[in-house]
Parts: sequence; structure tokens; C-alpha cells
Amino acid sequence: MSNFDLPDFPVSRLRRLRKNVALRDMFRETSLRKADLIYPLFVVEGENVKKEISSMPEQFQLSIDNVVRECGELETLGIISVLLFGIPLKKDEVGSGAYADDGVIQRAVREIKKNFPEMLVITDVCLCEYTSHGHCGVVEDGYVQNDATLELLAKESVSHAQSGADIIAPSDMMDGRVAAIRKALDRSGFAETPIMAYSAKFSSAFYGPFREAAESAPQFGDRKTYQMDFGNSDEAMREIALDIQEGADIVMVKPALSYLDLIRRAKDTFNVPVAAYNVSGEYSMVKAAAANGWLDSEKVMMEILTSIKRAGADVIITYFTKEAARYLKTNK
Ligand code: PBG
Repeated sequence: MSNFDLPDFPVSRLRRLRKNVALRDMFRETSLRKADLIYPLFVVEGENVKKEISSMPEQFQLSIDNVVRECGELETLGIISVLLFGIPLKKDEVGSGAYADDGVIQRAVREIKKNFPEMLVITDVCLCEYTSHGHCGVVEDGYVQNDATLELLAKESVSHAQSGADIIAPSDMMDGRVAAIRKALDRSGFAETPIMAYSAKFSSAFYGPFREAAESAPQFGDRKTYQMDFGNSDEAMREIALDIQEGADIVMVKPALSYLDLIRRAKDTFNVPVAAYNVSGEYSMVKAAAANGWLDSEKVMMEILTSIKRAGADVIITYFTKEAARYLKTNK
């Protein structure tokens, strides 16, 4: 008898249920659904802008008119959710564009909700795309200041909610930001707006292509004083526990592929909704290899996305969203 108290070979033959497509489909344990996928969009100022990101084939910086068009396409594909990143025309020390009522995200959200009220609009809350120094918070004496940043993140969150955002997603990694945002949202009449917290967000070289897309590379130093060290798993659980205590409705592990163990550990430990971010570098690697004819992009994509779900993620933020939706339309 095996460990599981089941009969051994030759009574047990696991290949019996792999014999044909019907059996394999019927007993597949993890399947991807279109509703599991969140599509990130980079919103820029201007009109009719559609600029491909060189390190991320098929991903674009889009002006608001094209973002609305894109949402129409997503709806046709059966995709229900987008995550918005804003790239303002002007950056300053305190990231004013992040919480301006006429900011690029605020206007984009209003336009999307006007045209596609059913689309679930999630907004990334951070300062790095809006600050001249490219850091995720207020910088004093060359150091990112935690508590001074909280106020700005709370302001940004309320401004997004006022524009119609359905979910607020803080990605800055300041301590106490979920509590600060929750309090500000509640006081402003948004007690029912959920927070999806980038809880265990690692300082990762896999964000390289994103920083080209969002024009958000730090102008000095790195993000290691606020984003996590990639060797740490217990600390990731502490980050997640704190965010849940502070009021996060969904917690996130980011990146996904090198952190599948943490997705599983988070799900098993907390049993709350878990999101995983299949980040830019994870997308670019597959696309670069596929462009060389070294692997099959579509097959690798499905294997990757299914593995993230199998690890325990309820939802996946991924640049593969449209490709996966097309695949799911024609395949089981
Ligand atoms: C902003 C932010 C980043 C990503 C999401 N939000 C970049 C960073 O922290 O430097 C990365 C997403 C990706 O690589 O796809 N703080």
C-alpha cells in the first residue's frame, strides 16, 4: 500500500485516466476561467496614442480614447476587469498628478465607467509614475519617508474612488498604508470599495519592462528599503497578516512565478482571496523566447497561468489576458 492507503501497481494505473482527451478534460483539477484574469493598461495623455512597449510585444501605452476602445474589445473577449496605471505629462517631487481631479487616471476611470459601466475598474495606487525621482513615496534626505507618504496615498485612493474606481490597489509597500487608505475611503463615503493590497511585493528585476512602460524607474538608488527581499517567506506572511488586519479584502503576491510557494502558503495560512501578479518580465521572457522560435508562446502561457492558479491564486493580473481569452474561446 502507498502512503495514501491506495493499492499499488498493477491495481493502480494512473495512466487509465490520461488515455484520451475526454478523460483528461473531465479530471483536470485546475482550469483557467476568463473571470480569473485582470488586464493591466498603461494610460497616457493625448489623443489616439497607441505606442507599443518595445520590451513587451503587443502591449501599449494608450490615450484615454484608445483605452475606452480597448475596453470594448475586452468586453467582446469576455474579460471583465482592467488594472490601470497612469503616466502623467508632468512629474513633480510629491506626485501631484496622482491625486489631481483631472489626472489621467481620474479621467480614464470616468470615461470607462461612462461607456462600460459593467467593467470592473481597478486602479493602481502608487506615486512612482508621478514623482520626478521615480520613487513610490515622498523623498527627504535621500530616503523614502513612510508616514508622510501615507497621506498622499490616502488622497490618491479617495480621488480614484470618487472618479468611479471599483477596487483600489495600493502597490507602494509603505507600512500602514492599507489602514490609512481604509480610513480615508470610509470617511469619504466609500466604505464598500474593496482594497486589493500588493501585500507581498518583492524588490524584483522582473519589473524591468514595466518601468519602461510606466516610465517609473527610480532616478537614484533602488526600491530595496520598501519592497521585500526575495529570500523572505516568513516576512511575506507577516506583511499579508498586517494588511488583512488593516482591512485588505484581497491580498497579492508579486511577482508570481518565482513566488508560487508564497501564493500557496498565503492561501493555506489565511484562506482569503489571493491575487497574483504575473509581471512584465515574466511576460517578456516568454515573448522573447517565442520570437526566437524557442518555445510555443500559447502553450507556455496556459501552463504558466494554470500553475499560478494551481498554487492558490484566485485571480491573476497578466499581460497575457487577451491571448488567454482568445485561447479559452477556441479550446477547452
Ligand atoms: C508601481 C508598480 C510596479 C509594478 C506594478 N506597480 C513597478 C515597481 O514597483 O517598480 C510592476 C508590474 C510589472 O512589472 O508588470 N509601484
